[in-house]
Amino acid sequence: MEKREELFSGKAKSVYTTDDKDLMIMLFRNDTSAFDGKKIEQLDRKGMVNNKFNAHIMEKLEAAGIPTHHEKLLNDQESLVKRLDMIAVECVVRNIAAGSICRRLGVEEGIDLNPPTFEFFLKNDDLGDPMINEFHIKSFGWAEAEHVEKMKELTFKVNDVLKALFLEGNILLVDYKLEFGLYKGELILGDEFTPDGCRLWDIDTREKLDKDRFRQDLGNVVESYELVGKRLGLSFD
Ligand code: TMP
Ligand code: ASP
Repeated sequence: MEKREELFSGKAKSVYTTDDKDLMIMLFRNDTSAFDGKKIEQLDRKGMVNNKFNAHIMEKLEAAGIPTHHEKLLNDQESLVKRLDMIAVECVVRNIAAGSICRRLGVEEGIDLNPPTFEFFLKNDDLGDPMINEFHIKSFGWAEAEHVEKMKELTFKVNDVLKALFLEGNILLVDYKLEFGLYKGELILGDEFTPDGCRLWDIDTREKLDKDRFRQDLGNVVESYELVGKRLGLSFD
């Protein structure tokens, strides 16, 4: 499958049309961004590592019965995906407090959230991705009520599958963000699942192995992503 026109270029990925109107090619670039695009750097190998990482996770989710846009890995930095009508809302589940919830609610990083908590954010960098609730989504028509329910259901289902998967590699899934879209009327998981959009801590040392290494200038960003991948059985050579 060949790339045709660039449809959209985000902070870390670009998507291209193909000869099939229902399929797109997603290119994982080396660009790494944080703080709504205020901090951007190129990190060697990151596109390749994230592309392979994402394909592995999406395949595991599909196998667990969660519909995703992922079709197949094409090469080091590209994957073939279904073309979705994206819903501009981000779904976040948190198993452990970290990041914005600590700042917003004044809670200590590292406390267990039992049950895990769920938050919606509006996908809008200019507004700094504000937190929103279900009423906002319905009042402004950002998604249908049934799709709101389905996004919550699938996001929690992903939690069950991935918490267990990462645990096998001695890694805690602290939190993560998912984006959904519609494909021929069906709500399915889109975007990506990589260490760019979740928090992953070593179970013993609680060392951060995700994009917080970039946000907090901790170094070894891509090396940590690779370490997680290797613990899941992936090879990046
Ligand atoms: P937060 O702590 O910044 O609210 O983020 C929670 C999790 O969701 C964290 O793993 C990062 C991810 N996330 C993104 O990747 N992009 C986003 O725009 C948002 C709001 C969260
Ligand atoms: N949406 C945020 C960003 O701009 C998430 C993050 O800080 O990674 O990149």
